[in-house]
Amino acid sequence: MPNLIFRPDWHLPESRVTPERAYRNRRKFLRELGLTGGGLLAASGLLESDVHAADARQLYPAKRNIAFSPDLPLSKEKVFTTYNNFYEFGTDKEAVHQRVDKFVTAPWPVKIHGLCEKPVTLDAQELAAEFGLEERVYRFRCVEAWSAIVPWTGFELRKLLEKVQPKAGAKFVKFVTAFRPEQMPGVARLRGYPWPYTEGLTLGEAMHPLTMLATGVYGKPLPKQNGAPIRLVVPWKYGFKSGKSLVEIELTDKQPKTLWETLSPEEYPFEANVDPAIPHARWSQATERVVDSGDRIRTLPLNGYAAQLSALYKK
Ligand code: MTE
Repeated sequence: MPNLIFRPDWHLPESRVTPERAYRNRRKFLRELGLTGGGLLAASGLLESDVHAADARQLYPAKRNIAFSPDLPLSKEKVFTTYNNFYEFGTDKEAVHQRVDKFVTAPWPVKIHGLCEKPVTLDAQELAAEFGLEERVYRFRCVEAWSAIVPWTGFELRKLLEKVQPKAGAKFVKFVTAFRPEQMPGVARLRGYPWPYTEGLTLGEAMHPLTMLATGVYGKPLPKQNGAPIRLVVPWKYGFKSGKSLVEIELTDKQPKTLWETLSPEEYPFEANVDPAIPHARWSQATERVVDSGDRIRTLPLNGYAAQLSALYKK
């Protein structure tokens, strides 16, 4: 007879247990508010999402990892957080941040599945607590030829992929982002787009130490317009590869179809490595406009990360 195990209703798998650090932070926050007694949270009028937000703030600012942070002048926070590409909220970059109010970003389960031994669903905040956060200063280069220098807070995607143990057949990683038309006022005007916004990397690119899942920027949790609560950051690729507000990460054996590649494969190819020698179909990629100063500077191959990537792209 098979060895059946009957779980009680309240059973939670190990993977769903709140990491100790996150749990302690939550207790501390509630204690500070005098809310540790039964039912007091409800009585206080505080929402679960308020507690989540307070928990999240406890993890910031994270220590900067100098090894990954060249000494570059940061773009102004005010500029980088109010000049956004997030088409689900509209195509006017300077208006996105005014249109995100209805977007609910906690709690936020992220499903990691596909060709792996140990698929798991974890809340974005649990991920941040489990893998530990650090700050890294990366160059950011949009395909539209503007750029910024950004202090991201997050962790290497590699750590999460190692946790779920990719199977031998896994060759690519697909990233699916949130699609909630009722909370995203830009979607209504772009009905023909192949939503949700989906992106992809080869497994080698996803496992590279430069590739991050970011949960914060400028020493704070990510603002909604920059991809709260969790987004991808791949500093040597054009910014459109960095999907925002991720809900699913899937290991697969086939190159995933991405939103931009489906719309215009010549302009937004899957690989999308920053390359000043290959012009976009409608403009040169040889230079870039620095987003806050307006200065025009030369674009570097692989956005300045060629040395770190030589093993990945060796011919
Ligand atoms: N992710 C989603 N879900 N929707 C988007 O429209 N735009 C991409 C990328 N991720 C986008 C997205 C593009 S084109 C860029 S340049 C960056 O997000 C912009 O990130 P930022 O607004 O934080 O600078």
